[in-house]
Amino acid sequence: MAKPQPTLMDKIVSLCKRRGFIFPASEIYGGIGNTYDYGPLGVELKRRVKDAWWNAVVTARADVVGLDSAIIQNPKTWETSGHVAGFTDPMVDCKKCKGRFRADHIGDLSCPEKPSKRPGECGGELTEPRSFNLMFKTHVGPMEGSGSVAYLRPETAQGIFLNFKSVLECSRLKPPFGIAQIGKSFRNEITPGNFVFRTREFEQAEMEFFVPPAENDEWYEHWRGVRFDWYIDHGISPERLRLREHDAAELAHYSTATADIEYEYPFGWGELEGIACRTDFDLARHSEASGVDLRYFDPQTKERYFPYVIEPAGGVDRMALTFLIDAYEEEELEKDTRVVLHFHPAIAPTTAAVFPLVKKEGMPERAREIEAELRAARMTTFYDEKAAIGRRYRRQDEVGTPFCVTVDGDTLAEDLVTVRHRDTMEQERVATGELVSYLDDAVRNWGRASRV
Ligand code: GLY
Repeated sequence: MAKPQPTLMDKIVSLCKRRGFIFPASEIYGGIGNTYDYGPLGVELKRRVKDAWWNAVVTARADVVGLDSAIIQNPKTWETSGHVAGFTDPMVDCKKCKGRFRADHIGDLSCPEKPSKRPGECGGELTEPRSFNLMFKTHVGPMEGSGSVAYLRPETAQGIFLNFKSVLECSRLKPPFGIAQIGKSFRNEITPGNFVFRTREFEQAEMEFFVPPAENDEWYEHWRGVRFDWYIDHGISPERLRLREHDAAELAHYSTATADIEYEYPFGWGELEGIACRTDFDLARHSEASGVDLRYFDPQTKERYFPYVIEPAGGVDRMALTFLIDAYEEEELEKDTRVVLHFHPAIAPTTAAVFPLVKKEGMPERAREIEAELRAARMTTFYDEKAAIGRRYRRQDEVGTPFCVTVDGDTLAEDLVTVRHRDTMEQERVATGELVSYLDDAVRNWGRASRV
């Protein structure tokens, strides 16, 4: 029987481990179901994704400020937000194999005992669906009692609502304006899976944009467009992206309308980011429960009102996975095949690799100096002097480094280096004194045309 070929996901998972993007967590102890650690390249990739998001959503805009709120908030937060009562998934248990499954995903799941069969097909009876709360519970302080119960946040958004009044007072912003936050959230998912697509501990990039209620629709339109374009501007293939409106049955308990930006993953279309209309649901409820008036007072109209909220909310791990999948190519060349990650340079973990052509004649020393100059210009670099130059290029292609800089005899004689471009594999001679600005310009002027 023919050996099954690895799928694209198998290849991505294997590359991530081999090259230091993503490792299974606690691996020396056998792992802990669907939990991952980011290695040296993965952490750079994720940092780039977060920086690109922050630059677009906060730094480039005069109407959005940032926040970093606590993971553990007063538990009343989650009673008021509706998460204690309503943040649940329907779950069924198999009485025979003891598997636990999301009732609304049965058709996509397999039985742990007989992986070729669906849940319940192992001969076991499935229980009626029961609600399973997705929040992780913990205890604050040394005593484990009902008075000390707290929750790990299931979304970063609530920290923003709790700080709405403080930010309003210190920033002097007025609606329409936004508060953005990137941070970890936790959900006790019944069925995590598809690598880092769905994990129990994950990082969110969220922004709550507070608007006068009459402007709700125009800002909803604005943020759907802006966030969709962000992925395309950072190199994601437009033909694998779509915007899909939720139908009424799908809406979260706080939302009147939501559009998902979806990507066509190897395992099917999946949510990459949601843009939700949260109305005044959160501010009004926190006002009532806390007794603190969270309405905005408009000094011009003398009106006091709860702003409506438009929320673009994305998963950073999903974004990183999407950039990896979308960038991956096995490119047939004349003599062989190369694996290449076509990352946009703003997303690539390493911007430039620096090589001496050979390990003699002063080339390694000069290459080290040039690498230090690039680092001083805040570029991420990688120095490599091992193996033949062609092999070193291929190693960088596989991790998506857009530029390789080679120091050779001309560098020592005429101060020229060779810059080799990942996607076209073309090479150019560049004066060492102009290298930083050359690379800066190449990053700034990057377009999808450079992929072909
Ligand atoms: N705040 C929206 C979400 O967590 O999905």
